[in-house]
Amino acid sequence: MSSNPAIDLIREKLDIVDVVKDYVPELRKAGRNYKAPCPFHNEKTPSFTVSPDKQIFYCFGCNEGGDIFTFVMKIEGLTFPEAAKKLALKAGLAWEDRHFTGLSPADRENLEIKKALAAAAEFYKKFLFSSGGESARLYIGARKVNKATVEAFGLGYAPPSDNVLTRELLAKGFSKDLLVKAGLSGLRDSDGSPYDYFRGRIMFPIRTQTGTVTAFGGRILDSGEPKYLNSPETPVFSKRKTLYGLDRALAGIRKTGRLLLLEGYMDVISAHQHGIDFAVAPLGTALSTEHASFIKRYAKDTIIMFDPDIAGIKASVRAAEIFMEAGMYCRIAELGSELDPDEYLNENGPEAFAQKLADAADPLDFRMNLFFTNRTAVSSQDKAKAIDELLKTVSKQGDEILKSLWVKNIAARFEVSETSVLHQLKTPGEERKPYETSNPQTMPALEMGFIQLLLKDPELLACAQELEEQDLSHPLARKMFSEIKDLNPEERTRAPAALIGKLPEERALIMELAVTDIPSDLDPAKNAAQTVKMLKKKSHARRRKELSKNYSTLTASQREELKHLTELRGKAGEL
Ligand code: UTP
Ligand code: MN
Repeated sequence: MSSNPAIDLIREKLDIVDVVKDYVPELRKAGRNYKAPCPFHNEKTPSFTVSPDKQIFYCFGCNEGGDIFTFVMKIEGLTFPEAAKKLALKAGLAWEDRHFTGLSPADRENLEIKKALAAAAEFYKKFLFSSGGESARLYIGARKVNKATVEAFGLGYAPPSDNVLTRELLAKGFSKDLLVKAGLSGLRDSDGSPYDYFRGRIMFPIRTQTGTVTAFGGRILDSGEPKYLNSPETPVFSKRKTLYGLDRALAGIRKTGRLLLLEGYMDVISAHQHGIDFAVAPLGTALSTEHASFIKRYAKDTIIMFDPDIAGIKASVRAAEIFMEAGMYCRIAELGSELDPDEYLNENGPEAFAQKLADAADPLDFRMNLFFTNRTAVSSQDKAKAIDELLKTVSKQGDEILKSLWVKNIAARFEVSETSVLHQLKTPGEERKPYETSNPQTMPALEMGFIQLLLKDPELLACAQELEEQDLSHPLARKMFSEIKDLNPEERTRAPAALIGKLPEERALIMELAVTDIPSDLDPAKNAAQTVKMLKKKSHARRRKELSKNYSTLTASQREELKHLTELRGKAGEL
């Protein structure tokens, strides 16, 4: 099979069933073969097959197949020599890199990149504990991260100056080109000279499940931008496929079958320090289908706990849907405070936190709770719209039993008949127009749509310069418009939260506007410009009507105004 005796020896010592079971615990005997849901694609009925006779695996669903080496390479994203080394260790064989010759150029480069990244992690760690690292040590201390945690997560500090790391790694023999490919150095446009990609940041090595460093996240010490800088995508690093903290969490996840999905680096670190050892986080991106299929292999009970802000709420609903689409069970936990998990743990301790995990709601209950929060009276129209919205979540549920339970729950909670919910599920409502959201107020849809656009992106105010408060008919729309205009630049970066601060009694409406998608074929700026134009026309029409109703009592200037408005209408055509 192979001309390499070291490889042949590994093959002799290991059984593919044992190797696969390490990654696919649900592998079960089925006749001569073993079967499980495929770890390489999402499926409900197992078509992933392992043959002990032939010592191969094959998936009838996605056509992945091969031997123990290909399996480990694929599942861990390793090069052949890395997989061989790993398997040699599992087989209890000594392994030396010289056992390996004939690497492909790409494999050789990937190995080099990983070596450079490992050297960088060492360098950052050493620098953290050097005299240059004092401010970073103080910062880490202030964040209540202890020494053992710093060690466990391999935290470090990148020097603030220009290219200390790059120089050190060049001296170690890594090429400039390779350092750029590894995402550790950049090249100046002016003269091509290299600089360190990360400077003056607390460094969080991002590692694979087996502890190989593939990237970094770097947090600024003070309040500079961006707060976290992540390595670029490289040949060895893809955000979509990476979960932060997995190397620390995998044992805990396997042991408990539970996985806690948090939002940030510090949340994961804090969770582990407080003994919650099954916590991981995506890397500042949405949960991907790749993440979900990975998680599915290990966790039976996945709990999502994102930050208690609008972005977090929206991301949890989305993540829950991705899990559901992957045929997985998940729940969403809320801390019921303004604090993120890290802050909450430091303030309230792990017992209170564990209780919040135990109280996690299923995704449908979570959405229903959101709807009923701060809402007293609910009109039947609002109910219908909300149910329509919730049924989108229900339709993503692949489990028919759960699905019918959810229909029951919706019916009970909204006090409508189950049949009508079922009917609605089978004949889903028309796609909702951009500005129709379920809202307890009487605000015209166009005005609500306009506020929603601004909440998503206050910079769209630029399209609304000609619009005045009195152009809006609804008092609440006016108030919200005026408050949004008054937001300062910092507040504009988090408009929904800032607006809730100013209009706390409108929290439910603001949240809902912020988390509801705006389905539109237009880009937001065009959408906003068009909305403003329509608002302006409506406003003119209202004013015209008002003036002409009292024509006999109008002053000369009011008559002028009416004449002008009538001319405008003539030019622009009717609405
Ligand atoms: P948060 O802004 O919630 O930060 O971002 P945090 O995790 O609470 O961090 P601390 O407590 O202020 O240190 C959540 C996650 O989003 C990503 C990071 O992965 C971060 O952990 N993020 C955030 C970025 O990638 N870049 C940023 O500029 C900000
Ligand atoms: Mn935080």
